Amino acid sequence: MQTMKIVEVAPRDGLQNETAPVPTGAKIAFVDALSATGVSEIEVSAFVSPRRVPQLGDAQEVFRSISRNDGVVYSALVPNERGFDRAMEVQVDKVSVFTAVSETFNRKNINTSIDGSIQRFLPVVERARSERLPVRGYVSTAFWCAFEDKIPPEGVVGVVEKLLDIGIDEVSISDTIGKASPDEVKRLLDLLLPRISSDRIAMHFHDTYGRGVENVLASWSYGIRIFDASVGALGGCPFAPGATGNVATEAVVKALEGKGEKVGIDLQKLSQARRLLDPFLIEDRRSLPKDGSPACAACQFSKAAVCCRR
Ligand code: HMG
Ligand code: MG
Repeated sequence: MQTMKIVEVAPRDGLQNETAPVPTGAKIAFVDALSATGVSEIEVSAFVSPRRVPQLGDAQEVFRSISRNDGVVYSALVPNERGFDRAMEVQVDKVSVFTAVSETFNRKNINTSIDGSIQRFLPVVERARSERLPVRGYVSTAFWCAFEDKIPPEGVVGVVEKLLDIGIDEVSISDTIGKASPDEVKRLLDLLLPRISSDRIAMHFHDTYGRGVENVLASWSYGIRIFDASVGALGGCPFAPGATGNVATEAVVKALEGKGEKVGIDLQKLSQARRLLDPFLIEDRRSLPKDGSPACAACQFSKAAVCCRR
């Protein structure tokens, strides 16, 4: 039976969206603390353009200085060959390319079309193969898009097939703006599972509408066992307006344990890791939830788990 796997994406998806840059030393301490929590994989950073995402411009320094735990895979986003070169200089264990179903989002995020992105990925996948490195392919805007609204599931299947054709090992089906419902998740999995086995599918939910945990459980009921999550629900994409944090790792662990799964993550250590970032995150995000508090002026949400500023 496939074991549960939590991919902790806070160091990348979480910190890429922070307004104030987190110091490199704090990132290293954060990743080291996460390494001791029992997570299977940590997405440490991204080898993207530091002009586009200055928050992660220190990806190489972070990789060079973390203390690696043998049981953990240390992965990173790599958008092109230039990123692959940088990743190889610091011995990344697994690389993730990323594209989307929405052409508009793709252009805003990686400045190319879906087909253009696949062309860019070809040499990355080929070189990863020769280095015996696994490759993940993110499929963003798999349900909704900030620019193109509802995304048809057939379009997602098309992009997944393109990624499989070039030799991707695993796909991460991503609800970039956190708007999917469990029914939409099931509808998409109904189409995907006849084409790709469940052990090659990860689900990546943002939690804008507070449905992340429900969506994880809907996917789990379909046999999915790989979930991306972010400690403290940090996260968001700077190029997708309105996208808030990923579903919280703490909430995912509790929900899966509630289903009798052995997740193997120490929640106390997870919370200690998260607290290491407290001095560096914007004040509003750290404030405690207040029931009935007024809607946030920026994202219009009031619930702490979903508001972009709490
Ligand atoms: P481009 O815009 O097509 O331009 O880059 P380029 O290839 O001509 O390069 C532009 C500049 O970037 C040049 O520097 C290049 O040298 C440099 P300049 O001459 O202007 O000084 N450059 C690089 N530098 C370092 N590493 C590289 C690299 N490549 C080019 N690898 C590119 C294309 C994709 C690189 C750019 O558009 C980019 O970095 N975009 C940022 C994408 C990003 O990080 N988005 C957020 C992550 S995706 C996400 O959050 C979604 C996800 O969580 C799933 C979900 O929730 O949906 C994964
Ligand atoms: Mg994301």
